Amino acid sequence: MEKIILTGDRPTGKLHVGHYVGSLRRRVELQNSGEYDKIFIMIADAQALTDNADNPEKIRQNIIEVALDYLSCGLDPAKSNLFIQSQIPELCELSFYYMNLVTVSRLQRNPTVKSEIQMRNFEASIPVGFFTYPISQAADITAFKATTVPVGEDQLPMIEQTREIVRKFNTVYGEALVEPDVLLPENKACMRLPGTDGKAKMSKSLGNCIYLSDTPEDVRKKIMSMFTDPNHLKVSDPGQVEGNPVFIYLDAFCKDEHFERYCPDYSCLQEMKDHYSRGGLGDVKVKKFLNNVLQEELEPIRKRRKEFEKDIPEVYNILKKGSEAAREIATKTLADVKEKMRINYFDDAELIAKQAEMYK
Ligand code: TRP
Repeated sequence: MEKIILTGDRPTGKLHVGHYVGSLRRRVELQNSGEYDKIFIMIADAQALTDNADNPEKIRQNIIEVALDYLSCGLDPAKSNLFIQSQIPELCELSFYYMNLVTVSRLQRNPTVKSEIQMRNFEASIPVGFFTYPISQAADITAFKATTVPVGEDQLPMIEQTREIVRKFNTVYGEALVEPDVLLPENKACMRLPGTDGKAKMSKSLGNCIYLSDTPEDVRKKIMSMFTDPNHLKVSDPGQVEGNPVFIYLDAFCKDEHFERYCPDYSCLQEMKDHYSRGGLGDVKVKKFLNNVLQEELEPIRKRRKEFEKDIPEVYNILKKGSEAAREIATKTLADVKEKMRINYFDDAELIAKQAEMYK
């Protein structure tokens, strides 16, 4: 069986370093590993509209931001198909048929939907499209017969729901869909990078994100004002490493070789952590080190972004070509699905012949 990746992001803002360690970095590695036959990376604008119905301009403006972030991280259109969800109408058709295979109570139990409804204060007025987006996400994944979906932990319930839909479809109508596996980030710190303010999640509205497109100076300022251990007042005080965002970022980004270059007092992160826990290591020194590490990682990304920014029409062209190629594949899957569901009347010569016989 072919190995096929599908994943994507909602274009509700620029991508930040949380997206990078949580998924983008891995995607580029998977792309370059050569282990996958096809890779689809989708800008999920239709899904973004399910809770931004009154703000389509925001979604429209962020398509290019996300595309630039993708390309600057090293996603290569020659190897990965980059496309826009709304340009594949077959996804809507698939969703419509999958809706018959899912109950309202099952959707209500989906933990991601549950927490997102709470976060958005939607309790009394949930848009139907939002409520059913796990079904549309199943369409996204199955349309491309994806075997592997690299996502963050928060998306696990979505993939589980997709697998259920696939099993149900294949049992009721016959084998047509592929049950996907999830691929989670390997490193625990990468599962969810906290905000620079120590809040559990980076979010645009909290203003606690470091964006991939931030200037070196922005990044430096954000790091130097990061939240750390609030009880670590004097350098000599013992500090807390667990739950300390500066160390979580280092867990996600730092390699031993960084110490040689930027902080030769230590040979690895554990030594630095031990010193911090013992007392005697100040936050400023750790933050300066983190700044060096992060700048090194972000610099090539910024450089590539500058290049792609020079030719925006070409970026749209990449997305257009990607969308056309994606559509061809989704069209084939939809044809399989309609055949299995017995709604392919005009292609079914046997059906027509039999009924003609019956009415003789
Ligand atoms: N729900 C994902 C997110 O919020 C985006 C997404 C839409 C997606 N369709 C997908 C991810 C299919 C993986 C597979 O980030």
